[in-house]
Amino acid sequence: MKGCYHIHTYGCQMNVHESEKLAGILEAKGFSVCDEPSSADIIVMNTCCVRETAESKVLGHLGRLKSVKKAGAVLIVCGCMTQQDGAAEKLAVRCGFVDIIIGTYNQYLLGEYIDAFLVSGKRIIDVWASERPVREASASRAENVNAWLNIMYGCNNFCTYCIVPYVRGRERCRSVDDILSDAEDLLSAGYKQITLLGQNVNSYRYKDVDFVGLLKRLEFDKKYRLKFMTSHPKDFSFALADRIAESKVLSRNLHLPVQAGSDRVLAAMNRHYTRDEYLKKINYVRSVVPDIGLSSDVMVGFPTETEDEFCETLDLVRKVKYNNLFMFIYSKRSGTPAAEMPQLDYKTKQARIDRLIKAQFEISKEIADGFAGQIFEVLVAEKKGDICFGKAQNDAAISFESKDASVGDFVNIKVVSAKNANLIGEVVR
Ligand code: SAH
Ligand code: SF4
Ligand code: F3S
Repeated sequence: MKGCYHIHTYGCQMNVHESEKLAGILEAKGFSVCDEPSSADIIVMNTCCVRETAESKVLGHLGRLKSVKKAGAVLIVCGCMTQQDGAAEKLAVRCGFVDIIIGTYNQYLLGEYIDAFLVSGKRIIDVWASERPVREASASRAENVNAWLNIMYGCNNFCTYCIVPYVRGRERCRSVDDILSDAEDLLSAGYKQITLLGQNVNSYRYKDVDFVGLLKRLEFDKKYRLKFMTSHPKDFSFALADRIAESKVLSRNLHLPVQAGSDRVLAAMNRHYTRDEYLKKINYVRSVVPDIGLSSDVMVGFPTETEDEFCETLDLVRKVKYNNLFMFIYSKRSGTPAAEMPQLDYKTKQARIDRLIKAQFEISKEIADGFAGQIFEVLVAEKKGDICFGKAQNDAAISFESKDASVGDFVNIKVVSAKNANLIGEVVR
C-alpha cells in the first residue's frame, strides 16, 4: 500500500460520480481511502462553480487545508471551478500550496499527473480549452444500493444564467451498448438502483436510439429501480411520461426544473418553453402516473425579475405543489449573458427566497400529511441499529423500525406519522 487519499466533493451528482471515478484511479495506483485530510498523502478537491456560494466554500476549505495537509502530501484541485476561463491561473497565484490544478476534461489522467508531479516536484497547471472524446475510468463506488451511470456529458442549452455549458463542454452521448453493459454489470454486482446521469437526459440520442428508446432497453427482467436526472422541460415528451407509466423498473418520480413562472423571465433565461407548456406537461404526467412524486429547481432574483414576475413563480409553485423543491437565489456567473443584464439588489433577492421557502414549507407539510396511512415500497439505503432509512417509489424519504430488513431490501411500509414532513412508517405484514 502506497498511502491514502481523501477526496472532497462539491456540486451535483455528476461530480459525486466523477469523484468515484477519481477514487477508482487512485485505488488502482495502490492508495486506500482515509477520512481525515490531515492523514492523507493525496488530497483532491473536486470543485463546483454553479453559484458563488459554491466557489466561496471551496476557497475557504482550501485555506484551511493549507495548515492541515501533512508535509509531502499532494494537493490537487480539479472540476468545474478550475475549468472556468482564467480561473486556474488565478487560483495558482492565490493558493501557492496547491500542487496540481486540472479541469473537467482531463480528470481521467489524474494518475499520470500525480506520477509526473512526484518525479519532477514541479507544480502542474493544465486545463484543456475544450473537450476530447470521453474516456471512462472505472469507479470505486461509495454507495452500495444506488449506482450512478453517465449516459452523456456536457450541455448544449446555454441557459443565460448558467456556467455549466462553459465548464462541461458540448453534449456527448455514450453508446447504447456501453450503457447497457455497464447497467448489467452493476445489477450483477448487486446494486438495487441505477441513476442515469446527464445535464439533460431528455436529449439523449445515440444513432437511432433516443432517451425513451434507451429506457425501454433498460427494462431488464430483474427487480431494480431505475432513475434519471436531469430532465429539461423543453425536451420532456408525453412519450416519456407514458414510459414512466408503463415501466416496471422506473421510479415514480420526476425532477423537472421549471426555474421561473413568468414567460418573460423564461424567455430571458433562454429556456425554450412557456409556463403554459410546462403546466400541460405536468398535468399530462400526473394524468398517466397519478402517484408521481414531482420535484423542481426554482431560481429567484434573475436579472430584471419584477415583483409581479416573482409572484408568477410563487403562483406556479402553489399550483403544481411539488413534493420537493430546490430553491436558489440567482448568482451572477461571469462569462454568461445574464451577468451583463441589470442585477437586482441582495435584499430583494433574499426577501423573495424567504417567501418562496415559506410557501414550499406549507406545501411539503400538506403533502406529507396526506401520506399518512398510505403504503409505499421502500428501498432500504441505510440501517442504524434497527432503524432503516430509504426512499419510496415517489422519492419520499421514509424511516421505519425493523430487525429483519437489510440494506438493499424492498419493503412495503405503511406511513404512520408525518411530523415536520419526516415520514415514519411500519412494516406491512
Ligand atoms: N442541468 C440541470 C442542472 C443544472 S445546475 C438542469 O438544467 O436542470 C442545477 C440548478 O442550479 C439549476 O437547475 C438552476 O436552478 C441552478 N442554477 C444554475 N445556475 C445558477 C445561477 N447562476 N444562480 C443560481 N442558481 C443557478
Ligand atoms: Fe445549465 Fe441550462 Fe444546461 Fe441545465 S440545461 S446545465 S441549467 S445550461
Ligand atoms: Fe455540477 Fe457544479 Fe459543475 S453543479 S456540473 S459541479 S458547476
